[in-house]
Amino acid sequence: MGRKIFLTGATGYIGGSVFDTIVTHHPEYEVTVLLRNVPQDFSSRYPKVKIIKGDYDSHDILAAATSNADVVVHNGNSDHEPSLKAIISGLLTRQTPGFLLHLSGSGILSDFRSDTYLGKLNPKIWSDVDDRDAISRLPDDALHRNTEMLLGKTVAEHGDKINIAIMCPPDIYGKGKGPGKTWSAFVPMYVDSVPKVNNRIFYYRDGANTRSWVHIDDLMTLYLHVVEAAVAGGGNAQWNREGYYFAGTQEHSHIDVVSAIGKHLSAQGVIENGAPVAVDIKAIDSTVNVPWLPGLARYLWASNSRTRADRARKLFGYQGKAPGLLEVLEADVAHAISKT
Ligand SMILES: NC(=O)c1ccc[n+]([C@@H]2O[C@H](COP(=O)([O-])OP(=O)(O)OC[C@H]3O[C@@H](n4cnc5c(N)ncnc54)[C@H](OP(=O)(O)O)[C@@H]3O)[C@@H](O)[C@H]2O)c1
Repeated sequence: MGRKIFLTGATGYIGGSVFDTIVTHHPEYEVTVLLRNVPQDFSSRYPKVKIIKGDYDSHDILAAATSNADVVVHNGNSDHEPSLKAIISGLLTRQTPGFLLHLSGSGILSDFRSDTYLGKLNPKIWSDVDDRDAISRLPDDALHRNTEMLLGKTVAEHGDKINIAIMCPPDIYGKGKGPGKTWSAFVPMYVDSVPKVNNRIFYYRDGANTRSWVHIDDLMTLYLHVVEAAVAGGGNAQWNREGYYFAGTQEHSHIDVVSAIGKHLSAQGVIENGAPVAVDIKAIDSTVNVPWLPGLARYLWASNSRTRADRARKLFGYQGKAPGLLEVLEADVAHAISKT
């Protein structure tokens, strides 16, 4: 198989880390990136990387770039259908099947739309092996489901002409490696929300809602396995129907994560009282509001999303090697404070 890589989202937290990891570990790969804004030092830092200017709505640019690529690594926006359609259309013009790694997210499993487990522990832990069929039957309005359905349809119709891996990480922490954003979303969003709840560390009901987490370095280990397998023509990775990869290495309840955030915020003098308090659902809802995703605050602060990376463990012996979330959370909190 060829080693021409086309990658999107290189200035983002996840995409940038994947990009830097690929270039650093495999200087022999021919890497092309799509950028809408080129960081000033990009070409001095990555002199061998080819840049194509465009954005996710540049259908023809994306289709042409992907028709030329052996392996496409699509990051940056897990819900953007036009970019995914353009990428697939380009890959399907190849003479031999190409490879696509699509970034999704374990928000797809979140139980935030029902009251049942908000603020409580949901016993369900999803396996990317045992529950693969159930994942492909999740409700159409589950997060990221729009693009996963598109990928499922592509596999059903053209599975002999394309090899797809859906990368489905949980919440991520730790400093990223790329040329743009190098910090994740959860901790800064929580720190931004604290002033909206009277400067208190907040949780809902008993705060036992639990989510999986992964350090960005461990996630990159998994990406590297799958990219290297693609370059090898498939290697020991699995693709299409079986090509679904959770990445979580640990779980934490909401109350444990925010109690640790509270300790760091009060130690830094950002808030007076770092002890967590239970708040009502109206207060939760008041913290984050985006019109295109009603209930985002419940998803972030009150829901469960528990995953087991069975496939990666089975295929690659994947396990967490980086420090655990609570051991290094202080750095994520310090970054969040620095930008408030
Ligand atoms: N962070 C997490 O904990 C996490 C976990 C699981 C899943 N996810 C999902 O993964 C996706 C990426 O997350 P992230 O944290 O890596 O995001 P991020 O740091 O904000 O990165 C977004 C990247 O996508 C690019 N981008 C976005 N829209 C674009 C467009 N229309 N045209 C061209 N480039 C565009 C950005 O380019 P510019 O620099 O030009 O803006 C940037 O490179 C999200 O959909 C998120 O829901 C995130």
